[in-house]
Amino acid sequence: MTIMAAASREGKTLRDVVFAAGAAAREAAAQYGADKVVNATVGCYAGDDEKLACLPVVEQLYRSLPMSDFITYAPPLGLEGYRQAVIDETFEGCRPDGYVDAVATSGGTGAIHIAIANYSEVGDAVLTTDWRWNIYDCLCQEIGRDLHTFSMMDDQGHFNTAAFSAAVSNILRRQDSLLLILNTPANNPTGFALSDAEWADVLEVCRLHEKNGKRISILVDIAYIAYAGEKDRVRSFMRQFAGLPEHIFTMFAFSMSKGYTMYGQRAGALVGLSSSKAVIEEFANLGKYSARTAWSNINRAAMTLLTKIRSDRDLMAQLELERMSFAKSLRRRADIFTYEADRCGLPYVPYKGGFFISIPTQQSAAVCQALEADLVFAGPLAQGVRLGVCSIPEIKMQGLAAIVKKALDRVEGRTDLLAAGK
Ligand SMILES: Cc1ncc(COP(=O)(O)O)c(C=O)c1O
Repeated sequence: MTIMAAASREGKTLRDVVFAAGAAAREAAAQYGADKVVNATVGCYAGDDEKLACLPVVEQLYRSLPMSDFITYAPPLGLEGYRQAVIDETFEGCRPDGYVDAVATSGGTGAIHIAIANYSEVGDAVLTTDWRWNIYDCLCQEIGRDLHTFSMMDDQGHFNTAAFSAAVSNILRRQDSLLLILNTPANNPTGFALSDAEWADVLEVCRLHEKNGKRISILVDIAYIAYAGEKDRVRSFMRQFAGLPEHIFTMFAFSMSKGYTMYGQRAGALVGLSSSKAVIEEFANLGKYSARTAWSNINRAAMTLLTKIRSDRDLMAQLELERMSFAKSLRRRADIFTYEADRCGLPYVPYKGGFFISIPTQQSAAVCQALEADLVFAGPLAQGVRLGVCSIPEIKMQGLAAIVKKALDRVEGRTDLLAAGK
């Protein structure tokens, strides 16, 4: 029961198990020495010195901005130049034909919030994959929606189109419209990405329901796209969004947190794309209203930074080079892990790029606890254990797969014995 708060707020407690594991890792580092501890809980990119990294071009330019950029209000929709630059960055060379607009948001989180608020009804089910960023659940619950999930992968490690299709049909038996959230490429927590063919299947399912009079909004969460691979290759799926019917609406949750290492500066955008001008006008109007009422306007200096970088050829070249160096380091770390995992028989969700690798297990909390004996700290999720490749130096990736395998065997072996009554 609440004390002073409204009764409807009862039970709204943020349970951040990953944060708790991170605190334990810091304690262990203080006790045993940082070199002995693997902190796989962090979701930000760190260099091999294990320090949070800032893209040098971002640091240099941000520090040079005038004070007025930091203190002046911005329009609720966002600065015009920023909105256009964000649209360019969202699509790069794969911009589909159609009407497009963008609303500046408080990070990718703000973009997801606005999409849920404006493209699902109170009481509705919103659909996403079982492997997901768990904040989606809270974002839905906070405003009276219910997050439903379907199994992301089939037995072959491909996108589970059958499960997706069944989940959509099931929900649309009860609802006239549906908001679908897909975090790809570089899915958090797995590094999974839908292929172009899998996207074609997703759209096929949506088209089928649209023909039956349903309205479907698709939110693509591209928070990690900057490190997912060559920019036009990882965006090629977006071309398929051209010419979709009026009642299939696509949106993109864009974030400066990872792509510009501006996590704390809270800048992002919700980008909308439609074959219908009216849908995009409605999108911008509603977005402006939502922004004004949720945070009023966002960090002007961050918007200026992105606009300046994207309008300067040299700065862009520098940004791309620096991002590539981060991406290469992520790839080397992931390669060490997946190579060793394959050799020792440790299962992992197919990793195609990004900040995280996940190990499927029904007993993630017990496995994370077992890992702590080896001073490895990881985030326990509903579907498995998440390892933040983004913050583990190459040297500490070596041998990590074997440690995880040992912990997994200890826990799962113990359960097998219990199940067999031994
Ligand atoms: C999957 C996913 N989407 C969106 C975000 C949004 O991040 P931010 O609000 O910092 O832009 C995150 C951050 O961790 C994330 O993991």
